[in-house]
Amino acid sequence: MTALVLSQRGLLGDEVAKHNNNNDCWVIIHGKAYDVTEFLPEHPGGSKIILKYAGKDATEEFDPIHPPDTLDKYLDKRFHKGPVDMSTVETTAKEDDPEEAARQDRIARMPLLEQCYNLYDFEAVARQVMKRTAWGYYSSGADDEITMRENHTAFQKIWFRPRILVDVTEVDTSTTMLGTKCSIPFYVTATALGKLGHPEGETVLTKAAGKHDVIQMIPTLASCSFDEIVAAADGKQTQWFQLYVNKDRKITERIVKHAEQAGCKGLFITVDAPQLGRREKDMRAKFSDIGSDVQKSEDPDAIDRSQGAARAISSFIDPGLSWKDIPYFQNLTKMPIVLKGVQRVDDVIRAVDHGVTGVVLSNHGGRQLDTAPTGIELLAEVMAELRQRGIQDKIEVYIDGGVRRASDIVKACCLGAKGVGIGRPFLYAMSAYGEKGVSRAMQLLKDEFVMNMRLIGARTIDELTPDLVDTRGLNVHTVPIAPDTLGNHAYDPLVSPAFKAKL
Ligand SMILES: Cc1cc2nc3c(=O)[nH]c(=O)nc-3n(C[C@H](O)[C@H](O)[C@H](O)COP(=O)(O)O)c2cc1C
Repeated sequence: MTALVLSQRGLLGDEVAKHNNNNDCWVIIHGKAYDVTEFLPEHPGGSKIILKYAGKDATEEFDPIHPPDTLDKYLDKRFHKGPVDMSTVETTAKEDDPEEAARQDRIARMPLLEQCYNLYDFEAVARQVMKRTAWGYYSSGADDEITMRENHTAFQKIWFRPRILVDVTEVDTSTTMLGTKCSIPFYVTATALGKLGHPEGETVLTKAAGKHDVIQMIPTLASCSFDEIVAAADGKQTQWFQLYVNKDRKITERIVKHAEQAGCKGLFITVDAPQLGRREKDMRAKFSDIGSDVQKSEDPDAIDRSQGAARAISSFIDPGLSWKDIPYFQNLTKMPIVLKGVQRVDDVIRAVDHGVTGVVLSNHGGRQLDTAPTGIELLAEVMAELRQRGIQDKIEVYIDGGVRRASDIVKACCLGAKGVGIGRPFLYAMSAYGEKGVSRAMQLLKDEFVMNMRLIGARTIDELTPDLVDTRGLNVHTVPIAPDTLGNHAYDPLVSPAFKAKL
């Protein structure tokens, strides 16, 4: 055993830097050194990404993807090498990385928050100031991203039939979701890896949601710990919990019970992800980040585990989850159960038969099955069927995907949704401007919402009825996207594999 070189404040950077290869690999995380040599082959995200940081400080890469207690839980104590004197650790100056220097320059020249007038503005700014890997993870959709784009364009196929000469002096946007009152029928849906966009991660969303009396759904795969997100709430605000069901049901049981004890008011079981979709922007960003040798596997059929953040974190999800498991969850918790990711009418009827409280008509923001239907399109079909059967009050129907304007929310409410989930826009607002950004995004939606209600002649959420919308164009897919829409400008096109530079 080699003697370790210690300063008064811990291990010296030089000493840690020696352990920089496949056979002897240490990393520094939050000022402590860890020997991860034996863990390399088991790392769900592949060994390459760890080796990139062998002998170095990996905190920045580690933080967004791992809950804070990961190393204590999963790495045997004998591999914890102790504190490092961080003043002796060599850091790569940001100016030495031209991509990072250019990003810092853009950050210095960012538009003022007050210049953001709608949710697309946050997306356009975030695209310029986020790290490439973070942007890749947040912005990507599955395959050709047809569903992802259709999610928003579907709303544009619904037109209003405004009612005139209604006294709309007073407008009340408050409503109830899963039995809890809230200020407006939208919620912050579950999105994983908040720290990719902001060092404080999901707690940024919690604080803005609390300020606006908006409900937040806490993701299983948050970067912050569940307890940190609950602690960031103001005590009065409502939080739900999104569950990815683990193959190990004991783990599932523990986290569901913990969520219930912490006061969560709804359990959203994600049912559209027995396997995570292929999100090529995410994979491509990750690929170029860890070097081109990733593809040089000896066995061309071997599973490449370095396929972006999404795949790295999701291997525990149970593909065996089925309708048979629903009674198990109903026995496990008193929280209302909602199935998140329902994609056809007869599955909604089945959900009613199983006595669940609600469904979210969702395609996971277009990140799972490409050309799966949009939530809003399905909502029109589902509500017609539920009404025909006289069971429309037996289940609460939510939708998410592509909601970018309050008029989208109003349309969903007119068609019978109890509320809508919003994902990426709040992530972009958070990544670009932090809590103030998310708060402004929520306020913009609220202002738009009141205006829209007045302009269509509705004073309360109950007055948003199907006769206020014209859905005749809804079932035509893949309309050409008008080149002058803001969404089209913000959309980051897919790219083909890059050719090597000329020598
Ligand atoms: C970056 C990102 C991460 C997501 N992570 C999860 C997740 O961990 N669990 C889940 O059920 N849905 C997840 N979703 C799907 C969202 O809950 C929601 O269905 C989708 O974002 C709605 O579309 P929108 O982003 O257009 O609003 C994620 C979506 C994004 C964009």
